[in-house]
Amino acid sequence: MRTADRRTVLGLHRSRHRRDLLSDALDLGVTAIDTASNYLGHHSHRTLATVAGDLLPKFSISTKVGYFEDGHSLLPERLRHAVEKTAKDLGHEPGTILLHNPEHSAPDAETLTHACAALVDATAAGLCEHWGISTWDPRPLVGLDAPRPDVLMVRSGLLVSNRVLDAAEALVTWWRPAAVWGMSPFGGSATAPVWARVEPRTFLRVPAATTVQAAFRVAFALPRVDAVAVSTDDTGHLRELLGGLAYEIDTEVLRSYRQLLRQST
Ligand SMILES: NC(=O)c1ccc[n+]([C@@H]2O[C@H](COP(=O)([O-])OP(=O)(O)OC[C@H]3O[C@@H](n4cnc5c(N)ncnc54)[C@H](OP(=O)(O)O)[C@@H]3O)[C@@H](O)[C@H]2O)c1
Repeated sequence: MRTADRRTVLGLHRSRHRRDLLSDALDLGVTAIDTASNYLGHHSHRTLATVAGDLLPKFSISTKVGYFEDGHSLLPERLRHAVEKTAKDLGHEPGTILLHNPEHSAPDAETLTHACAALVDATAAGLCEHWGISTWDPRPLVGLDAPRPDVLMVRSGLLVSNRVLDAAEALVTWWRPAAVWGMSPFGGSATAPVWARVEPRTFLRVPAATTVQAAFRVAFALPRVDAVAVSTDDTGHLRELLGGLAYEIDTEVLRSYRQLLRQST
């Protein structure tokens, strides 16, 4: 679902890949899903095709390659093969293929460029519409040359450290991606003890949202991103998140928060 320029992507990292949730998401206006070749024990693509093959054409699908059953690799031929297998397993060409956490293999600029080139070539060959880079920890990538990605996906929200935020913003400036997506707005759990110690509603101009709505809304602004991938296996939770998209951020509070974060590192 899109409110102004805020697009919600249903992330499948922690998902059981249930058909009813995918169907409910469509009913709620969520038309983007994000997965990876290694999600669901490396069975995500085939499972999606099996349980919801008829629904997949209604979604814009992003997925990632880089993790294989024997570990992480940036070898171009392995990535190219993984992209081909993705389309075959899904029974459907994905909208976006992302290089999954390239920092995991500590690449130099040449290795990163060759890995990206495999995805650029796959896009040119029509195996996907767009390509990009998804990075959990962007710090080792800062300063490395790479082809300009269509999408850069980075962590977003209140649990992201100042160093990671700075690195993500540096990559946006350096690589100039056409779109920036956020991910993991709750750091993987909306019930982790940390959420009892923060008040995300402070960041809203009108603090009438629920805590999770406010935390989700902040994830579009910290850093500034066009879309946020969030995991949920619960339709009610997804509905709640969507209900918070319209709240506006208090930019003064956000600016002060970034200043405080910088001072504390
Ligand atoms: N390196 C990478 O590329 C990378 C790494 C991490 C994540 N991601 C992407 O980002 C997506 C999201 O990140 P994440 O999986 O780390 O998790 P997350 O979205 O930060 O948190 C997911 C958790 O939040 C809970 N939640 C969501 N909405 C809720 C609500 N309204 N009320 C209460 N609880 C709620 C979910 O529980 P319920 O199921 O009970 O709702 C789930 O346990 C992933 O699926 C993936 O697409 C990418």
